[in-house]
Amino acid sequence: IPAFHACIVGAGLSGSVIAERYASWFRDRKVLMVEKRNHVGGNCYDYTDKATGIRVHKYGPHLFHTNHKAVWDYINKDDLQRRGAGGWIRWDHEVLASVENSHQGSTFVPVPINGISLNILFNLNLTTDEEVKTWLDLHRPRKEDRCTLSNEKRETEQKECQNAEDQCISRVGQDLYNIVFKTYTEKQWGRKATELGPEVTARIPVHGNFDSRYFQDPYQALPQKGYTRFVEALLNHSSITTILGLNFFEVRDILEDGKFCSELFFTGPIDAFFDEKLGKLEYRSLMFSPRVFFDVGESSHVQPSSVVNYPSPDVPWTRSVEYKQFLRQKSNHTIVVYEHGTKYVAGQNEPYYPVPNDQNRRLFKMYQELSKRLESLNQSDGNRKPKVHFVGRLANYKYFNMDEAILNALNLFDHLYVNIHGSGSGKG
Ligand code: FDA
Repeated sequence: IPAFHACIVGAGLSGSVIAERYASWFRDRKVLMVEKRNHVGGNCYDYTDKATGIRVHKYGPHLFHTNHKAVWDYINKDDLQRRGAGGWIRWDHEVLASVENSHQGSTFVPVPINGISLNILFNLNLTTDEEVKTWLDLHRPRKEDRCTLSNEKRETEQKECQNAEDQCISRVGQDLYNIVFKTYTEKQWGRKATELGPEVTARIPVHGNFDSRYFQDPYQALPQKGYTRFVEALLNHSSITTILGLNFFEVRDILEDGKFCSELFFTGPIDAFFDEKLGKLEYRSLMFSPRVFFDVGESSHVQPSSVVNYPSPDVPWTRSVEYKQFLRQKSNHTIVVYEHGTKYVAGQNEPYYPVPNDQNRRLFKMYQELSKRLESLNQSDGNRKPKVHFVGRLANYKYFNMDEAILNALNLFDHLYVNIHGSGSGKG
């Protein structure tokens, strides 16, 4: 019998959900969690700032939202509440963009762009959803001049989008693109929009109505006690041992010994797992500059919404986040974190966003082939190594929202164990 049945690398949401499922489903099997940072939670990690008493998300603002009832039910499980997760509080996130317009000068408009934003930006008086949709449609290029994404339904004669700029203009028209999206995208990625793949702007939402909420999902909430507490609750199980501050690559020989672990779940970067032998996958990183404002008043704020985007080329940061506004926290002070897109340098900063271009897509596919070959190896074939599974945003080289990370981990677990072992195993 190996020392641990499952060894998991990375205590972000993906790895922690696998750990929780494994420990709850197989009640007698031991799980080892290895995390290189000195905290759990991965990029969702939050903490209480000492100077202000305000809860801050260390790696950028995290707003939970999902369409998936299964994910919502999972994060609200009684079992997790008993283990200290805390509840989820409904939170409809709203974002403003600080923009210049011709008739007012500097002003704030809701993002995603909707009827309210259009009225402010272009001095209009749109009053119905129909009018908003018609305005948006009239200001897009003519149908035959629009491009589509490779996986989108194409109307006759439409060409495929070549880059983020032609994709975005096709979707929102030249004016909105220039005012709201062009420079923001370029500041975020440090490249011209024409040098970025069309998928970069494909997810930018525009609403043909007057709904200013950032997300439209039925479930949107913030964890009452924070994300870190939630992840701690996932790992708070007698079968799970968590070791912080331990890099997988320092103990790889041990974790890859079948006598120590029979299954290995890796949630770190896929190219690092294979020693970057085919080349490095590119990432974009972020820099966070916090500023504390003292004695502003217990319920007062210094910006008009929790998150403000800055599409202007004259402002160096892309957005600023006033964390006090999340869940209407009380403090006599406030803290604003300014976010800048920056180059990723391994060992110096964090890999946040995969850079979507053909070269990275090809390289990832090659790593995926290697990972599939490894995943199909079986211990019973005389292979003394653990069975390896790749999970999470870094191993999939894909931007996942939190709900997607959770769903992905739940689906993998079901695929590996529940659908096979069926009702014979624990119900967790
Ligand atoms: P994650 O990166 O969180 O965890 C991986 C863990 O593995 C890390 O803790 C890392 O230290 C560890 N690790 C890596 N290599 C290791 C090694 N060699 N040895 C040991 N440990 C290792 N989503 C959303 O739904 N709403 C939102 O508002 C936001 N906001 C947001 C803002 C920003 C700036 C970013 C970059 C991302 C978001 N997200 C988001 C996405 C969210 O962060 C994401 O879904 C989860 O963090 C994914 O969790 P994972 O566990 O997959 O990765």
